[in-house]
Amino acid sequence: MRLFVNVDHVATIREARKTVEPDPLEAAILAEKAGADGITVHLREDRRHIQDLDVQRIRRGISTPMNLEMAAVEEMVRLALEIEPHQVSLVPENRLEITTEGGLDVIGHRERLIEIRDRLKPAGILFSLFVDPDRLQIDAAKEIGADSIEINTGSYSECREPDALEIELEKIRVAAGHAAQSGLRVFAGHGLTRENVGAISAIESIEELNIGHHIVSRAVFVGMQQAVEEMLLAMRPVIK
Ligand code: PXP
Repeated sequence: MRLFVNVDHVATIREARKTVEPDPLEAAILAEKAGADGITVHLREDRRHIQDLDVQRIRRGISTPMNLEMAAVEEMVRLALEIEPHQVSLVPENRLEITTEGGLDVIGHRERLIEIRDRLKPAGILFSLFVDPDRLQIDAAKEIGADSIEINTGSYSECREPDALEIELEKIRVAAGHAAQSGLRVFAGHGLTRENVGAISAIESIEELNIGHHIVSRAVFVGMQQAVEEMLLAMRPVIK
């Protein structure tokens, strides 16, 4: 399973002082050295962490693919067409949220998403949608021609109670299997840690994970390279 490292929160630390360090590009290069398969950045409309210049520098400075997470708004579509990342992942965005709070309502925004698809895909940019583990939303993603979905693992990651955790995990397993069978490529992410990632990386239909906050948090103590290496190890199947 591939690991895309989200370096947003390196920029969060920099923005706390509005200075030049730490540099998310430097973090991205270290993540690649440790074996990351790609780099993810979320350019939020409020620019609370990653800035436009970061996206340009990271696009040019890394040797693995870049996944650009963004809201389905005109400003971001224009930027994506300029920067030409390997892939765009559309996410819902709410200015007051601390982090992305749920998956996209693909059914409710069908027309808008088709319009964006028709601009990104001809430019050779893969078109991915962040969705909850919900069959109807996944079917809608397939129907509008998404290349892939990223399943929101947020509810699973927040579970503290074993029975509830198993229920959330089963939802992800079923949703991932259904999406893969319908021909979508399946990714997952949000809130994953070394402790909870094993059950997700054991799901065969999931190809790729996006992990950020936990890796950056760990990197504060052990460095980016070790934090990524530890995550890759935690993603390896457990041989019983
Ligand atoms: N996937 C999406 C769509 C996200 O918005 C985020 C957070 O920016 C992530 C994955 C990574 O989540 P985390 O930082 O909790 O690992």
